[in-house]
Amino acid sequence: MKKIVLSLIACGALMSATAMDTLTSPDGQIILTFDLTPAGQPQYSVTYKDKQVILPSTLGFEIKDETPLTTGFKQGKPLFSSADETWAPVWGESDSIVNRYNQMIVPLTRKAGNDKRKMNIVFRAYDDGIALRYEFPKQQWKGFTITDELTRMALAGDHTAWWIPGDYDTQEYKYTRSRLSEIRAKSEDARMHNLSQTGFSPTGVQTSLMLKTDDGLYINLHEAALVDYPAMHLNLDDSTMTFTSWLTPDRDGNKAVVTTPFKTPWRTVMVSDKATDILASDLILNLNDPCVLDDTSWIHPTKYMGVWWEMISGKSSWSYCDAENFDLATFDYSKATPNGRHGANNENVRRYIDFAADAGMNQLLIEGWNIGWEDWSGKEKDYVFDFLTPYPDFDLDVLNAYAKSKGIKLMMHHETSGSIPNYEKYIDRAYDLMNRYGYDAVKSGYVGNILPKGENHYNQKSVRHYLECVKKAADKHIMVNAHEAVRPTGLCRTYPNLVGNESACGTEYQSFGGLPVSHVTILPFTRLQGGPMDYTPGIFSMNISEYAPGNNSHVNATVANQLALYLTMYSPLQMAADFPEHYAAKPDAFQFIKDVPVDWSKSVYLDAEPGEFIVVARKDKKSDDWYVGGVNADDPRDFTLNLDFLDPGKCYEATIYADTDDAHYLTNPEAYQITRRKASDSSVIKLHMAPGGGFAISLKEI
Ligand code: NOJ
Ligand code: CA
Repeated sequence: MKKIVLSLIACGALMSATAMDTLTSPDGQIILTFDLTPAGQPQYSVTYKDKQVILPSTLGFEIKDETPLTTGFKQGKPLFSSADETWAPVWGESDSIVNRYNQMIVPLTRKAGNDKRKMNIVFRAYDDGIALRYEFPKQQWKGFTITDELTRMALAGDHTAWWIPGDYDTQEYKYTRSRLSEIRAKSEDARMHNLSQTGFSPTGVQTSLMLKTDDGLYINLHEAALVDYPAMHLNLDDSTMTFTSWLTPDRDGNKAVVTTPFKTPWRTVMVSDKATDILASDLILNLNDPCVLDDTSWIHPTKYMGVWWEMISGKSSWSYCDAENFDLATFDYSKATPNGRHGANNENVRRYIDFAADAGMNQLLIEGWNIGWEDWSGKEKDYVFDFLTPYPDFDLDVLNAYAKSKGIKLMMHHETSGSIPNYEKYIDRAYDLMNRYGYDAVKSGYVGNILPKGENHYNQKSVRHYLECVKKAADKHIMVNAHEAVRPTGLCRTYPNLVGNESACGTEYQSFGGLPVSHVTILPFTRLQGGPMDYTPGIFSMNISEYAPGNNSHVNATVANQLALYLTMYSPLQMAADFPEHYAAKPDAFQFIKDVPVDWSKSVYLDAEPGEFIVVARKDKKSDDWYVGGVNADDPRDFTLNLDFLDPGKCYEATIYADTDDAHYLTNPEAYQITRRKASDSSVIKLHMAPGGGFAISLKEI
């Protein structure tokens, strides 16, 4: 049911340059003020419960070959409105989302020779934060090139920040927790190696950025609805603790080429005195347009396994042979000697299909099914993959038919090796092939530098490409999970076939040296704000060298922690990432992965602290069952779980998957215990979470 109240409040006479306009959140706790500086530059500030969140901060742009759109503005009378609607996502953390805000549009004009420039700033105040965007209405001025966006966010102190370094090409960084004033000194250490990376400033950071003030406010800075515009980073002036937007440039150094009418993405500031409010916030989704797809019946939450971890861990290979000086255009696979390590071979794939089907999985991802992996080494080569031709030992027809006979689908994989032109050349044929064989989901990837040379992963052109793929896929009823693409900004509301992105260090980094145990207690505050992550949880065997000799990396998590991730890392697409034989060795723990739903009618964040722990309860969309997950970082933690969120009057069987008292992510990671008991909304369960541990609970109605 949809109810929108739009009220327009006339606002008296034309405002003078110094008048202050105020916008208040529906609950009255957030107050945003706007005015023009004496020089005619737009500026705003924000308070929450009378505490300063954003000090007066100016807004504007640098424009190519034009006077900047900073000072000299005249303001018209603001237009106020409000909305209160409830909408139902196709999939999500809950089955209905309230979108309630007050809005103020500030019309601005600026003389430019004999012409004038029109620019509106739209402000929204929600109960959990504010957002602003620039709109350039239809006007004489047909278009322009933005060389810099100058959106400032002046913070009221030297807050604690959980950040990754600013980069035009990757978000695959571990988080650093530091004071804002320490970012500059820690920036170099924070920059771990990636096949494609382009930093820009020692005080540059990426969004979503999580902050905490000394007096207990949680603040989150991000953007929403990134369409036809470059991704925004933030650059800190650490003498004033002021962030300025920093857009990703194109190969000529320009930031965005726009045609009027045009609107930028939203710039967002979430704020609360409760960490759980940040996790529960729907601000980013609400700022995106409603779903534009008429038919969404073909979009479905998915649990999948994959011929994947064996390549990531180094046990097997993506490639069929070990050719040197490889050229796909001339290489003859029929004469090649197989390397004997190719993971995506018929026999192995059948083995996974059998296991995944028995386990009730929906899909099986197979990487390395297609020719070209011999050449895949980040060499900035245009033609590496054709996305069409299977390896000689991968029978596309037979394996798809076999999977179908077992009631599961194969999931397509398109590694583009960063060559956007090559992918665009093949994409229609590649999607058609998927339609022909009944694939309805693709994992795409953009490892290595973006081609053509000089372009970056997050500039305007690349951002356009990722969305075009999603739109094209929607036309062909294909769900998309894009790795190494731009980080999400809530576009899955508009295009719910965008079921996942990577855009952060996922489980694969457990095989590339390991992840800090705090990582999964930070991601929901940062990366997940924009949309679900294909984190690929569910590893049960933590010593990788036992199955991939030579790889001495260690999965820094306990088994119970891995189970909890199905709750704490919300996604409609969840992988059971480990090998069939590792699950077969721990069938009692694997039962949780089989049981856990991937779509929810309700979610309740019970307690959390970034970098320390997260506990969340979720109700299955298809039944009255509840599931609870808790993940923990470095310090052992006792947690008293009050089940008062359960539906009153109902009785449940609780199955509790927990760390043993001596479990530890390094020394004893596979030690778990499973207990059962009856539970109701008056029950309390005492839990212990090991370092790098957690717990997972299923509560099935009886
Ligand atoms: C990086 C992706 O994150 C990973 O999941 C994938 O297996 C490799 N690229 C190969 O495409
Ligand atoms: Ca990746």
